[in-house]
Amino acid sequence: MKAITIAIDGPAGAGKSTVAAALAERLGYVYIDTGAMYRAVTYELQRTGVILTDAQAVCRAVDGLTVRISGARVSVNGGDVTAFLRTKEVSAVVSTVAAYPCVRRLLVQEQRAMAQTGGVVMDGRDIGTVVLPDAQLKVFLTASAEVRARRRWAQNRKAQALTRAGLEELKEAILRRDRQDSEREVSPLRQAGDARLLDNSEMTAAETVGVLADWAEQVMNHVH
Ligand code: DC
Repeated sequence: MKAITIAIDGPAGAGKSTVAAALAERLGYVYIDTGAMYRAVTYELQRTGVILTDAQAVCRAVDGLTVRISGARVSVNGGDVTAFLRTKEVSAVVSTVAAYPCVRRLLVQEQRAMAQTGGVVMDGRDIGTVVLPDAQLKVFLTASAEVRARRRWAQNRKAQALTRAGLEELKEAILRRDRQDSEREVSPLRQAGDARLLDNSEMTAAETVGVLADWAEQVMNHVH
C-alpha cells in the first residue's frame, strides 16, 4: 500500500495531537506535532530573554536556529526542550511568536523536509493550506470550546505542566488563542477547501481515530 501524507488542522484542544499520534501508530507512520515546534521556539526565546514584541530581535534570534522533532522529543540546537513546551508561560505567548513570518519560514521549511518521504501524519494550523497543500488526506478537526478546554486541562495534568489554571481560565485562553490564530495575517487557521471536516465534540479519541483511519484507507485505495 502506498504511503500517503496526512494533514490534520484545527483549533487548540480539538484533540489533534492525541488523535494524530494514534493514527500514525496505527498506520506505522511518523507523527509530527508542528505546534510543539512553535512552542520550542517560544521557549527558546523566553529562555534567552528576547522581547517577543520586538520583531527584529525575534527574527535575529531565530536566524540559524535548529528545531528538530524525533519521536515525542523536541530539540532546539541539539538541546532537549520537550519538558518545557506546555507551561502556562509558553502557552500564553506562543501565538504571538507563531505570527512572525520569519519564525514560520524556518519551521515550514523543516516540516516540508520531514514530510518528503510520505508516511507522515502532521498536525497544526496551516498544514493543509500552506505546509503540505498536496497532502492526499486533509482533515479539519474541531470541537466546541467547552469540550476543548476540558481536554486541554486533562492533557496539562497528564503532562504535569507547571500550571494550575482552572477550566474557565483555560477556556478563555483557548478562545483568545483561536482568535489570534485565525485572525493573523500569515497562514491563519482555516479549513483548506479540500479538507474533510470532523467535529468530534461527541466522540472519544478512539472513535475519532477510527473515522480518520477509514478515511486514510479510502484514500490509499485510490492512490497509485
Ligand atoms: O497545537 P498547539 O496548541 O501546541 O500549538 C501551539 C501554537 O502554535 C498555537 O497557538 C498556534 C501555533 N501553531 C501554528 O501557528 N501553526 C502550526 N502549524 C501549529 C501551531
